Amino acid sequence: MKSLSFYGAAPAYLENIAIEGKLIVVEGTDGVGRSTQIADLRAWLEVQGYAVAETGWTRSKLVGKTIDEAKSGHELSPLTYTLLYACDFADRLEKEIIPALRAGYVVLADRYIYTAMARSVVRGLEPAYVRSLISFAPKPDLVVYLRVDVNTLARRVLLSSGINYWEAGKDRHPGLDIYDSFMAYQSQILNEFERIAAEFQFHVLDASGPIEMVQSRLREAVSRAISAKTD
Ligand SMILES: Nc1ncnc2c1ncn2[C@@H]1O[C@H](COP(=O)(O)OP(=O)(O)OP(=O)(O)O)[C@@H](O)[C@H]1O
Ligand SMILES: [Mg+2]
Repeated sequence: MKSLSFYGAAPAYLENIAIEGKLIVVEGTDGVGRSTQIADLRAWLEVQGYAVAETGWTRSKLVGKTIDEAKSGHELSPLTYTLLYACDFADRLEKEIIPALRAGYVVLADRYIYTAMARSVVRGLEPAYVRSLISFAPKPDLVVYLRVDVNTLARRVLLSSGINYWEAGKDRHPGLDIYDSFMAYQSQILNEFERIAAEFQFHVLDASGPIEMVQSRLREAVSRAISAKTD
C-alpha cells in the first residue's frame, strides 16, 4: 500500500489516497504502435491474473467528444488545445485512474501528460506553463517511451491509416503539403520528446523493430515495475 505522489501540488482531496495498483504509461508519437503494444501487454498481464484498466488520451467522457469536434473543425488555438487536454486528463484522473489504482488494478495509460507537453511546446506555449498546468498528475510507476525515427514512422503511418491533419501538424505548417508537414511537425515532436524523456527519465524502447521484439522488451520493463516493492 502506498499513497499517490504528484508532480506538483495536487488538490487537497486527492492527497493521501491509499493505492494498491500500478500506473504504467506508454508514450510515443502518433502511429508509433502504442495501441498494438498495449493490447498485447494487457492480454499478457491478464493471463497472469492481474486486473487491468486502460485509459487513453482524449478519451474522457466529459470532453473527449468536444476535443474530437474541435479537431474536426480545426478550431483549436494552441492554448485552448492545451486547456482541453488538461481537462480531459483531470476527468480521467478522478473518474478512471485513481479509482482503478485504489482497487488494485494495473492501469495502462495510452499517452500521459508528456504528450500535452510535447504538442503544446511545439505550438509555442512555454514549457514551464504547461508543466505547471498539468502538475496535478500523479507520478507513474513506469513511463515507457516508444522511440522511432521519422522515416520509419512515416512508412508505418502511410501503410496503416494514412496521414491526417493533426498528425501532420497542418495547423503549424499550412503552406506545406500533407507529407512535408508531417515530416516537419513529427520531427519537432520527436525532438521535444527526447528532451522530455531525459527530464522525466523515461524507460526508452526502440520501437522501430518488429512488433514482437518491442513487446518482449516492454514486458520485461513492466514486469520489473510491477514487482518492485512499494511499501
Ligand atoms: N513494430 C511495428 N512494426 C510495424 N508496424 C507496426 C508496428 N507497431 C505497430 N505497427 C502498425 O502501425 C500501425 C499503427 O499502430 P498503432 O495503431 O498501434 O499505433 P498508435 O501509436 O496506437 O497510433 P495512434 O497514434 O493513431 O493511436 C498499425 O497498422 C500497426 O499494425
Ligand atoms: Mg492508438
